Amino acid sequence: MQFKRKHLLGLYDVTKEEIETILDNASLMKHILSQNSKKTPHLQGKSIITLFYENSTRTRMSFELAAKYMSASAANISASASSVAKGETLIDTGRNLDMMGCDLIVIRHPMSGAPHLLSKYTKASIINAGDGLNEHPTQALLDMYSIREAKGQIEGLNVTIVGDVFHSRVARSNIWGLKTMGAKVTICAPSTLLPPELEKTGVKVTTNVREAARGADVVMALRIQKERQHSGYYPSLREYSNIFGINKEVISLAKKDAIIMHPGPINRGVELTSDVADSGRSVILEQVQNGVAVRMALLYLMTRRNMDEIIN
Ligand code: CP
Repeated sequence: MQFKRKHLLGLYDVTKEEIETILDNASLMKHILSQNSKKTPHLQGKSIITLFYENSTRTRMSFELAAKYMSASAANISASASSVAKGETLIDTGRNLDMMGCDLIVIRHPMSGAPHLLSKYTKASIINAGDGLNEHPTQALLDMYSIREAKGQIEGLNVTIVGDVFHSRVARSNIWGLKTMGAKVTICAPSTLLPPELEKTGVKVTTNVREAARGADVVMALRIQKERQHSGYYPSLREYSNIFGINKEVISLAKKDAIIMHPGPINRGVELTSDVADSGRSVILEQVQNGVAVRMALLYLMTRRNMDEIIN
């Protein structure tokens, strides 16, 4: 199937066929990553800019490496080093990048909806690399890729997501994506960290981590987002860890071959104990590697779409 989207702003409206196209292309890209020389000509002549208004290690670096492996011209702008610090608006920033010949902008922004706004004012394609409390679609795609790689399929699997769901754009994108792919999703968090009416998305919701882990094929822990905790959502990190932390005892309730995931960065000893994070069941570092392959696939599919438009 041809991938026809100009922008990737979220997974809320992305179809199963589109997700499968991205994951299948990522498999081919992962093969390239295993070669001695990772350089390919896929994006020769294309310009990719990563525009990050929040900190990042994995997402920013994997997009930049993906672009460079495929021979694109790639550059980064961080908010603190750009004219945003002098008061330039997001729209003006996007229009200026357009005039420099940018084909695709990868944006992370603390405001939900910032990528959607940018997409209305630029000629360049936009990929959302995390917007406020809304979505982080490429993280969910690499998570689904990692699940499919470990389990052979996504449909029918019991996937449990535990942690700060309220502040988690990773959880939101995974809920849309995993439900579209036919997984059975259970969400577990303190009631203060659960978004209202979450059940309406078709997930099971519980505040009991043992109930959530029982029979799971996949247990995904989410980071406690200390930077977004402006009021007392739970008494203390120690109490959170005691009640909701993923440890050996909690994992023993999951299926014998269950995998453990985390989007990173991990607060070791808070949402996940180190022995679980570093165990043989953990695919956390594979997620990082798969992130490069998935982002290579997306850059390829989305810039090729522009090329097809020009040819036709
Ligand atoms: N998972 C993730 O988005 O990590 P970074 O914040 O390091 O990009």
